[in-house]
Amino acid sequence: MQSQISSNFQISPHPFNKEDWASSYCNVEKELTKIELKVIKGKVPQSLKGTFYRNGPGRLERNNQWVHHPFDGDGMISAMEFKKGIVSFTNKFVRTKEWEKEEKAGKFLYRGVFGTQKAGGVLNNAFDTRLKNIANTNVVKLGGELLALWEASSPHSLDPENLRTIGISTLKNTLKKGEAFSAHPRFDPGHNGKEPKMVTFGVTTGPKSTIRLMEFATTGKNAGNLISERKDNFNGFAFLHDFAITPNWAIFLQNSIQFNPLPFLLGQKGAAQCISSNPKGKAKYWIIPRDSGSFSKQKPQIFDAPDGFVFHHLNAWEDNNEIILESIFYDDFPSIKPNENFREIDFSTIPEGILKRCRLNLSNKTFEIQSLSNQCCEFAMVNPIKIGLSARYAWMATAQQPKGNAPLQCIKKLDLVSGKEVIWSAGPRGFVSEPLMVPDKSSSIEDNGWILVLIWNGARKANDLIVLKANDLSEEAVLEVPLAIPHGLHGSWADAN
Ligand code: CO
Repeated sequence: MQSQISSNFQISPHPFNKEDWASSYCNVEKELTKIELKVIKGKVPQSLKGTFYRNGPGRLERNNQWVHHPFDGDGMISAMEFKKGIVSFTNKFVRTKEWEKEEKAGKFLYRGVFGTQKAGGVLNNAFDTRLKNIANTNVVKLGGELLALWEASSPHSLDPENLRTIGISTLKNTLKKGEAFSAHPRFDPGHNGKEPKMVTFGVTTGPKSTIRLMEFATTGKNAGNLISERKDNFNGFAFLHDFAITPNWAIFLQNSIQFNPLPFLLGQKGAAQCISSNPKGKAKYWIIPRDSGSFSKQKPQIFDAPDGFVFHHLNAWEDNNEIILESIFYDDFPSIKPNENFREIDFSTIPEGILKRCRLNLSNKTFEIQSLSNQCCEFAMVNPIKIGLSARYAWMATAQQPKGNAPLQCIKKLDLVSGKEVIWSAGPRGFVSEPLMVPDKSSSIEDNGWILVLIWNGARKANDLIVLKANDLSEEAVLEVPLAIPHGLHGSWADAN
């Protein structure tokens, strides 16, 4: 492992070992409770006080049948509690109704959105359109609830201390049973004297799509209460995984895609495999005024967006009549073919994620686009206090090599003004997941704090928890997790009470 400051990339790229990368795909075999993690290098900062939560697929095989894609794996939550320089680790599967049934049956009983089929071939899968809520995409604290999120259906509420599943949450009667609820809430820190909030959305889609934009209180006695909501209709099928916020706006990028449900209905493909890019269509920005902003009762603004495909945004902010939106663009929708083995994917055939900045002009409804770095990246974030404002720095997971797609092995700090990069590598045998920036509360300097990241250690066939200094990505601590957890999705930080 090494960190290096460079204005252009200088760690010599090496071919990654695909077996090391793929060896992370296994079932999580144990559920641990408050195990103290062994520090094998450095010291855990005493001032880190809170819990690092992560979610991701933890069950990938039943009865010798493997999921078709890891995104179909059941959600397994890890909680790493930082207290007085000690980290204790707890992990538990989310006890969804479907998980309980499959545990009992010892086999898959549901089709997965990403192509996992029940045993028994096409005939046994045709016309079975039940969705399995796999609760595997993100985990966030809202009020007293810890929520395991999966965008197509209801959140599951967990006990934040021991991760016990309490059940499906309606968020104090805000959500109907099974209502779509994004796995990508944005936490507005509260600018210009306003209250902090959790802003999120749900999408219902078809020939027309409806976005329900919701804002929840996050502090005080109202924490967890819905403060405001609005619903807006748009033309066309929507696939919206993420969005971005500024003090006045919620910004969505509607990729130009098409959805042909027939192979799904006929039992040949998972629902997500029926999505493909639509070369005849045009991507659109859907920009919705927030209720707490200056344009609250106005209609959404809609205009053309750049070609390409976006899952995740970094951040957005306002500059007079412009919104600046930074997003990770792929040249095409990375489709998942029915006969592909996910462990054997050829990274060189998949488009890479490139961080780009778009200036959206709200007066004349045009955009300008520029790349911020040409290196493949994913899972980018700014200091949480800068969400919705212009940020100087971003932290993200990147490939080791400077160009093209490859597994994520490095953490990069990018200076969004000068372009200067600092890189920490888990290579050659380590693979990173989403980095989380936790600010140092005693400092007002934007890059003072820590980066927490759970890595897959291909040599040990288990995970390590890495604590880096956010400003120079030097290693503060390396801790061993006595468990093997597949490459995960998203997570969050909750300060100690
Ligand atoms: Co995501």
